[in-house]
Amino acid sequence: MSKLLPYVCPKWAQNLKHIPKYRVQLANPDTPIHRWCLPGIPSKFEVSIKRDDMTGSTLSGNKVRKLEFLMADAVARKCGHVITCGGVQSNHCRATVVAARQLQLQPHLLLRTDVQNQSEIGSEGNLLLDRLCGANIHIVPKKSRYETELKPRMEKLAKKLKEETGEESYLVPVGGSNSVGLFGYITVFQELISQGLFEQFDDIVFACGSGGTAAGLAISNHLTGSHVRCHAIIVCDDKAYFTDHVDQTLVRVGLDNVHCQDILDIIEGHKGRGYGLSTQGELEFITNVSRSTGIMLDPVYSGKAAMGLVEELHNNPQRFQGNRILFLHTGGIFGMFDGTLGSIVTAETQNLIHMWSNKDDSPE
Ligand SMILES: Cc1ncc(COP(=O)(O)O)c(C=O)c1O
Repeated sequence: MSKLLPYVCPKWAQNLKHIPKYRVQLANPDTPIHRWCLPGIPSKFEVSIKRDDMTGSTLSGNKVRKLEFLMADAVARKCGHVITCGGVQSNHCRATVVAARQLQLQPHLLLRTDVQNQSEIGSEGNLLLDRLCGANIHIVPKKSRYETELKPRMEKLAKKLKEETGEESYLVPVGGSNSVGLFGYITVFQELISQGLFEQFDDIVFACGSGGTAAGLAISNHLTGSHVRCHAIIVCDDKAYFTDHVDQTLVRVGLDNVHCQDILDIIEGHKGRGYGLSTQGELEFITNVSRSTGIMLDPVYSGKAAMGLVEELHNNPQRFQGNRILFLHTGGIFGMFDGTLGSIVTAETQNLIHMWSNKDDSPE
């Protein structure tokens, strides 16, 4: 049975260039939207949450949406291997590895970390799943840039694999954010429309790490002539970098006359200590949100974005179109298990841990 499904693009996107022919089914679609009593929100705003952390379990989060198109492209091109890259705790790499295994492709990763020796890499969080699935992992320096260092190395690896196995490799760019992966969030936008986006919301807010989610949502929002405003809270790089990414994507899909600044609000100022690093305040925020709402936010993306949302609603309320906000939870659950949250959780919940008394068989 072919895994490839014909892709029928929404009517409003049919004039785009490079529309994929196929997709594969990886995500559980129609993830729920519900009200979210996010602590610290000014009373005039109402926040709801779209649960793209529930697109699956080991294949959860926003990455699986893009991978439906990227992996279909890999299968259609009859590749035997998939190569991608990211930080050592990359959700994108983990999702790519899991999807590759589900589709009988061999996964290869270039992971950025400063360990000096392969025995030091560990097996926490996302890396546990990468290793469990038997991904071939190549360790590269943490500071490696995508265009000048990671991409050429992925190409070198593809060449080596071709020589050794005779099979082609499919190269997935950082974060899966190219004009193929773009159709993941074009698909989600159609899902949002059917879930009442236009009637129920004024603004949509999400974390931005490689720009693909932002580009997909902002382009869809523009094409549908929607009144909703898209806000991307960046967790790495800067506004100029993402503006450039979205502008290049617009050109690639044939929307040369549209500009990022007209379709997307890129929000800076919420990176904290930098990509993948957490402040005490951020960790406390994540703990507080878990305790008060039962929604888990990861420290690298959704935690910073949700905290950024609260701060922006206080400090820059005028940047929002209205007061009905939809926060897109982009997943990242396994990032919670990299050890960062352990110390704060241990300290904050010590008073909630009790020994059952053996003396009189009762709670202390
Ligand atoms: C959990 C999570 N949220 C948000 C993002 C950002 O999405 P994008 O790369 O499409 O900007 C990523 C990946 O970068 C992610 O893993």
